[in-house]
Amino acid sequence: SQSVDIHKDQLIFSEGDAGDCAYIIEKGRVLVFITKDKEEIPLSILGEGEFFGEMSLIDNQNRSASVRALEDVTLGIVTKQQLLERISTADTVVQLLMRVLLKRLRRNNMHSRGISRIGELQLENTGIGDDKTQSALDQIKLENQIFLAFQNKEFELFYQPIIELKSRKIVGAEALLRWKSPTQGLISPNVFIDVIENSSMVIPIGHWIINQALKDLKTIRDHLIANKKDKVADEFMMSINISGRQFTHTDFVNNLEDLREKHDLPTKNIKLEMTERIMMDGAIALDALHQCRAQGYAISIDDFGTGFSSLQYLTQMPISFLKVDRSFVMKVLSDPKSRAVVSSIIHLAHAMDIEIIAEGIETNEESIVLETLGARYGQGYLFSKPVEFSSFMKML
Ligand code: C2E
Ligand code: CMP
Ligand code: CA
Ligand code: CA
Repeated sequence: SQSVDIHKDQLIFSEGDAGDCAYIIEKGRVLVFITKDKEEIPLSILGEGEFFGEMSLIDNQNRSASVRALEDVTLGIVTKQQLLERISTADTVVQLLMRVLLKRLRRNNMHSRGISRIGELQLENTGIGDDKTQSALDQIKLENQIFLAFQNKEFELFYQPIIELKSRKIVGAEALLRWKSPTQGLISPNVFIDVIENSSMVIPIGHWIINQALKDLKTIRDHLIANKKDKVADEFMMSINISGRQFTHTDFVNNLEDLREKHDLPTKNIKLEMTERIMMDGAIALDALHQCRAQGYAISIDDFGTGFSSLQYLTQMPISFLKVDRSFVMKVLSDPKSRAVVSSIIHLAHAMDIEIIAEGIETNEESIVLETLGARYGQGYLFSKPVEFSSFMKML
């Protein structure tokens, strides 16, 4: 990395300058100070390993203080881009916290200058109340609302049948989360699933989802067996959506096994649906995948064809099902290129002993084309929308 040598007593930058980079002290000590009537007011002495000059980069204002070398120093340079890249991808609440803390520090420095009466303070435009702050605060509010709703038992699982295209028989179901708000009615997961998945609530809520889906699977199996449909019961698969954070959490596999044993279910009737994004977690995810597979759970890759579908991952992941995303299914009739993509995905999957589920089938024509292309299973409004559990039971 880039570094610079500065001699004792040399000024590194002055208060009020525009900030272009920040520094890591590799050797020596510096003094951070502000001036009032040409008099230095010391704020801090920083030594090896310390970091300074970051504030003006983050809040895009001028240098909040001057910095001078107290002895010969060596400084590592951190570019504005390096910092901003990270900040821009940080959680919006973390961004908010940073703005609030910077504002406080700048105000504190003002106080150090001897401003002690309100009349001497200038109104700062720090952006509290702007759109960004508002959406960060909204995010926190939504998070709280969601967890409260969960605790108030306003969450419910709906089920959408998965069909064998040739026979049009139900061979399984996908559990889909719904929020039944007493004030707003039925709320789709698109509105809140990201908030859950990006916070630690994903662990208790994810646990509840698995427990509920397995409980319902038990009811389905008992019902089928009582009606002498043992073969259907034997093959019926319950698909449960699992997010990356949930899957790579320690104890995921143990907790899953505990719940499965509690409901007295075979692993082969349980399918874990996740996107390729979980592979971003590398070895941890791959290890959990292999553990699940070894126990006999089925693994299904969701939304295949969107995002960064990598053939490399297909060879690494021990999967048994692949869901062709609705964005392809939609275009399979009208767009020959999409049809070609779907056709290759299906061939590729079959060569790897992976079964295909086509998602979001809305018309009979789509269903027929997909079946012709070699898709064995399908799911979509043509067969049924996701419905509440009692309605799903009636469809069996
Ligand atoms: P997904 O896993 O890809 O689920 C399929 C979505 O497509 C569902 O939306 C389903 O209602 C919808 N869908 C099914 N057939 C059709 C169709 O023919 N046409 C159209 N236009 N849509 C169809 P939903 O239930 O709103 O769920 C949205 C997403 O939220 C899911 O996408 C999944 O990523 C996530 N999600 C839902 N439930 C859970 C859950 O329990 N856990 C986790 N981690 N994520 C969930
Ligand atoms: P920046 O505003 O870019 O330039 C001056 C730097 O001095 C600032 O970033 C911080 O790294 C540092 N700084 C400002 N105020 C203080 C303080 N009160 N105590 C310690 N360091 C400070
Ligand atoms: Ca899914
Ligand atoms: Ca999907």
